[in-house]
Amino acid sequence: MDYFLIEGGQRLGGRIPVGGAKNSGLKLMVASLLSEGPLILSNVPDIADIRTMRSLLSQLGLDVDEVDGPRKLSLGGAIASVEAPYDIVSRMRASILVLGPLLARVGEARVSLPGGCAIGTRPVDLHLKGLEALGAEILLEGGYINAKAPDGLKGGRIVLPFPSVGATENILMAATLARGTTEIVNAAREPEILDLANCLNAMGARITGAHSGTILVEGVERLHGAHYSVMPDRIECGTYACAVGMTGGDVLLEGGRMADQEAVIHALREAGVTVTEEVDGLRIQSDGYLKGIDLTTEPYPGFPTDMQAQFMAMLSVADGASTITETIFENRFMHVPELNRMGAKISTQGRSAVIRGVKRLSAARVMATDLRASFSLILAGLVAEGETMLSRVYHLDRGYEHVEKKLSACGAKIRRVQQSK
Ligand code: EPZ
Repeated sequence: MDYFLIEGGQRLGGRIPVGGAKNSGLKLMVASLLSEGPLILSNVPDIADIRTMRSLLSQLGLDVDEVDGPRKLSLGGAIASVEAPYDIVSRMRASILVLGPLLARVGEARVSLPGGCAIGTRPVDLHLKGLEALGAEILLEGGYINAKAPDGLKGGRIVLPFPSVGATENILMAATLARGTTEIVNAAREPEILDLANCLNAMGARITGAHSGTILVEGVERLHGAHYSVMPDRIECGTYACAVGMTGGDVLLEGGRMADQEAVIHALREAGVTVTEEVDGLRIQSDGYLKGIDLTTEPYPGFPTDMQAQFMAMLSVADGASTITETIFENRFMHVPELNRMGAKISTQGRSAVIRGVKRLSAARVMATDLRASFSLILAGLVAEGETMLSRVYHLDRGYEHVEKKLSACGAKIRRVQQSK
């Protein structure tokens, strides 16, 4: 297993290219199940989760081919299997999203139940209720979701009690091929939902309102292939912005967009970081002096849970106290004990954390627990005195591409060590 060695204390300067969004790219790949295709996707991030999704879609029978390297993929073909097995779904929860498209295209799906994960119990009841409202018959047996729609799906009105990102995406994809019109009320409004709707529309779907919370889908007979470029990763962009905020410096995040992350930019500015939109991205400037702020995670357009751990690391060296309340996942403070081992002063009670800013952090051996938590430890390492060793970096490789290259290019001292060598 690889680990990272990070020597703190370097200011960051230069340019970091923002890659394609993990949480959009994965769903756009799944959308290719809805047509013979091919769907040609560009700006696909080069990360482990994308490789896992490639292997799942290949197992379902799709042809998944690289076009000039891993960032451009061609996906399409006939469906040969309707089963998403436990070993893949347990590795990557986003696999649950094949359920709706398989039901819509071939009237049948067998998908392992994902179970809980490091950040919470994460049930999929809203996905299942939504698909049932479109006429699917669902039976849970032996840890699997067995779903059928022998006469095809039909449009319906679905009111989500909570704007779940995954449930919205599963229902949205299924509804594109349902007979009649589907209305999804209280739908998630994340920019990745709009990206998915735009891609589906490019494939011939009829979707409106994807950014408004009420999505209307007029079912069509079939979808066709298309060319589509994955949106930039707003979470990767926000993560590097926190890095510059902490270390001090001046970095252009190439491809970063203000419109996708207003809540994050507001919080960065409130903490004392300068963010400017330029023609080719977001420019982040900081003198390393930060002020404590209060944050609550919320569904989009609120402050994203996927930026919570990184802000916690950043605020641990801010002047004064901060509070962070996590409302989306019930167990997303796994990074707190590790940050405290590096000298942070963070206490938690239930879903809230109080962060008392300290002057400096000190290097330690720390362990990654999930994707965003891993990056919060890198951020701490970038400002800590001494050399931090971060193990279990496979969590990080699932969702951030070439971290050590992107950071080193801006002056950070970080290197990957392959343990087998
Ligand atoms: C997506 O997960 C993202 N994953 C997550 O990113 C992100 O944190 C999350 O949305 C919230 O923004 C992908 O896009 C692959 P939800 P998802 O359904 O779709 C509860 C990262 O670090 N819920 O909006 O699973 C659920 O338990 C990851 O990149 C139900 O109760 O999120 C959670 O508490 C981690 N029943 C809340 O809703 C359901 O049927 C939000 O979940 C579905 C969800």
